Amino acid sequence: MNILFAAGESSPFVKTGGLADVVWGLSKALVRKGHKVSVFLPFYRKGKEKVKDMYKWVDSFDVAQGWRMTHANIIYDQKEGVDFYFVECDQYFGRDGIYGYGDDAERFSFFQLTVAKAVIHMGMKVDIIHVHDWQAALIPLLCAHAGLKFRSLLTIHNPAFQGYLNPMSLGDLLNLPVVYYSDGLLKFNNMVSMLKGGIATCDAITTVSITHAHELLDNQTDFNGIGNVIRYRQSDMFGIVNGLDYDSFNPETDKELVQNYNVKTYKEGKKANKVALLTKMGFKNPEEDVPVFGLVSRLTSQKGIDRVLRIVPEIVKNKAKLIFLGQGEYMIEEELKHLAKLYPENLKIYMGYSEGLANLIYGGSDFFLMPSKFEPCGLGQIIAMHYGTLPIVAKVGGLNDTVKSYYDSHEGATGFAFASWDENCFDYSIGYVCNMFYKNKLNTLIKNAMKEDFSWDKQVEEYIKLYKMLLSR
Ligand code: ADP
Ligand code: GLC
Repeated sequence: MNILFAAGESSPFVKTGGLADVVWGLSKALVRKGHKVSVFLPFYRKGKEKVKDMYKWVDSFDVAQGWRMTHANIIYDQKEGVDFYFVECDQYFGRDGIYGYGDDAERFSFFQLTVAKAVIHMGMKVDIIHVHDWQAALIPLLCAHAGLKFRSLLTIHNPAFQGYLNPMSLGDLLNLPVVYYSDGLLKFNNMVSMLKGGIATCDAITTVSITHAHELLDNQTDFNGIGNVIRYRQSDMFGIVNGLDYDSFNPETDKELVQNYNVKTYKEGKKANKVALLTKMGFKNPEEDVPVFGLVSRLTSQKGIDRVLRIVPEIVKNKAKLIFLGQGEYMIEEELKHLAKLYPENLKIYMGYSEGLANLIYGGSDFFLMPSKFEPCGLGQIIAMHYGTLPIVAKVGGLNDTVKSYYDSHEGATGFAFASWDENCFDYSIGYVCNMFYKNKLNTLIKNAMKEDFSWDKQVEEYIKLYKMLLSR
């Protein structure tokens, strides 16, 4: 099959979170199964630095966006059999950041119009268009509007981001007639929502875990009522749990670790990495054998960081250490900085983005905290388990589908999951797992976690089945 992906980010070029891991891991797995995958991405400043043959230009054209004409270049690179096409337009993407600008709706409208035009202009052979999140959700509709109807799939990685724009701008930004709004196709809460438009117009929709698919359909988490829209598409809605890219995350080969290890050698391996991690973070007595809790995350309310702030006294009481790597909302960052000053012996933070430090935290911690309020899938807990670091998670979304909780059954357990409404259970977990640590009772769980198969080679089959089903319709 010829599969076209479009997304706001993808490793190995540009990443802010799990979306980048998934686009890259899934596209490589599809290529390994003999399919052709072309990935369209915006050409951000950060991504440019990573394209080896920087100006492998393949096409150029003007894109009309309402009353404006903007020039776009299409730049090509290939990585491990995956074809990458970058939409170059510095006025929109030649900036330091990726998302979070006041003109994001305009930037990603431009991106989507350009991808739709490139497909036609370059005469690309396409069987399936697979778009990810709101930044790409309208591409199938824009192609259809230009006269080319492809089978399409939208994957919702994060329903909290819905890509709003003023209905008055529909013609200006997306070249679409107002009827697309007035007939309700794009209308959502009296605005245009690109995510809603994708849900209404793609042939099928997936989200990244089975539990989260149910949560959306049952409106268990609000997301401005997007579940009501998804319910109209219930028979076309599926949950497919994310896989893990074992090339990028593998304790046996990871160059960021000071000692590689596997399920047979994890005791020495994790010990060496723990000492290296504690030393790097500036703890006194890095050799001390105390429980280490790691957290690698975007610092947003989604991730339940407020819950982590609550457990600091438990960490102190149990002589444990807590290491935070993340960046995000100002208030959360400030609170963390404040706590780190109060408890320098127990808490260290690195405010920023560092893939190297992230991997050392996965390798060198004993426990990984992910008390999310909602979590469509989550990759942090999957990476942690693969590195023999036991996740402590809220039982929501993909966390529920991937962590086998010791609280439910000691048999086969790979971590600890508490009911999301029961925050006391999270506080209680800290003392509970520290006790297990000090009594050396974690080895079976560590081995279970490391032996789990989260490979994309398994999960990719679910997508292939779905693509084939769409093509047979
Ligand atoms: P989300 O996509 O919601 O942020 P996931 O758990 O699915 O959450 O994926 C997060 C990914 O981003 C993981 O690969 C994690 O290691 C990485 N990550 C998150 N924050 C940072 C950071 N500050 N530095 C490096 N990697 C990070
Ligand atoms: C989103 C979700 C996360 C998921 C990731 C990749 O960012 O928040 O749960 O793992 O996308 O699908």
